Amino acid sequence: MRILCTVDEARAALQTARQAGQTIGLVPTMGALHGGHLSLIERARAECDVVVVSLFVNPAQFNESADLDRYPRREQRDRELAATAGADLLFSPAVDEIYPAGFSTSVEVLGLTDRLEGAVRGAGHFRGVTTVVMKLLNIVSPDVAYFGQKDAQQAIVIRRMVEDLNMNVSIEACPTVREADGLAMSSRNAHLNPEERAQALAMPRALAAATAAVKDGELSADVLMATAREAMSAFDVEPEYIALVHPDTLDPITRLERPALLAIAARVGSTRLIDNLILDPSIPVKPQSREATIACSA
Ligand code: PAJ
Repeated sequence: MRILCTVDEARAALQTARQAGQTIGLVPTMGALHGGHLSLIERARAECDVVVVSLFVNPAQFNESADLDRYPRREQRDRELAATAGADLLFSPAVDEIYPAGFSTSVEVLGLTDRLEGAVRGAGHFRGVTTVVMKLLNIVSPDVAYFGQKDAQQAIVIRRMVEDLNMNVSIEACPTVREADGLAMSSRNAHLNPEERAQALAMPRALAAATAAVKDGELSADVLMATAREAMSAFDVEPEYIALVHPDTLDPITRLERPALLAIAARVGSTRLIDNLILDPSIPVKPQSREATIACSA
């Protein structure tokens, strides 16, 4: 795996591949790689001729400077993990390579970004994400860029940007990778102390409780959100938001008539966690107990 630190190096390294007609896959990351990131790299490896991973902790998307300062940085380990997962090139630029003196442009997707994460973290968060992703896509010019469903709103916003600006790249959203107990993998999980790590299970448990309620036939958004909230309070975790929304527009829904996105966020100690899943009303109703089935057919 080659490590590239400048835009010129990255462009030069990819020129030959592009001229040879090879397909290029890009996996943008902020490092501190875990199984979630590695699943994206492996997917890119399976689908593309050349796999580029970018590692850039993007100051523009952090709304709290303390969060940026303590963001985990493990570059040596990240290099080894990215190479093992199948990356050919690691693009790891310095901050002033991406934001040189005089930098004054930003890309902003309106509407989709003022709710959920945008409402809590402020408009600057997604503006920072879309601006850096636009730059990475322009530098690498991949055929496909891979993002995680873990950050569902981010993937939706990036899809919108790519569509609105006629960008020639396809955006793939890949399933959330979880720890054995259900907690979604996240670089921020490293900040949880053992007590907080146990409390963090509130997140997957809330999603599981809502899923179970849907399987029992519940379709009211209010009831489903209350079910998730109750599951979180059993862990003494207060949600920042619980929202059941349309999976493309992020508009709130009142009744689960088609698949919808259940998105949740909470602080556990000083660590912010987010999680989500698609609730699907067409999943089969829980099988009746054997006795009940026999009683019905008799
Ligand atoms: P980062 O948080 O490092 O995440 C990089 C990619 O990994 C994102 O697409 C994210 O959704 C995905 N990811 C994170 N945890 C995951 C999990 N448990 N399962 C599957 N995928 C997961 O998201 C960012 O960086 C930045 O905003 C970035 C897009 C790089 C722009 O700076």
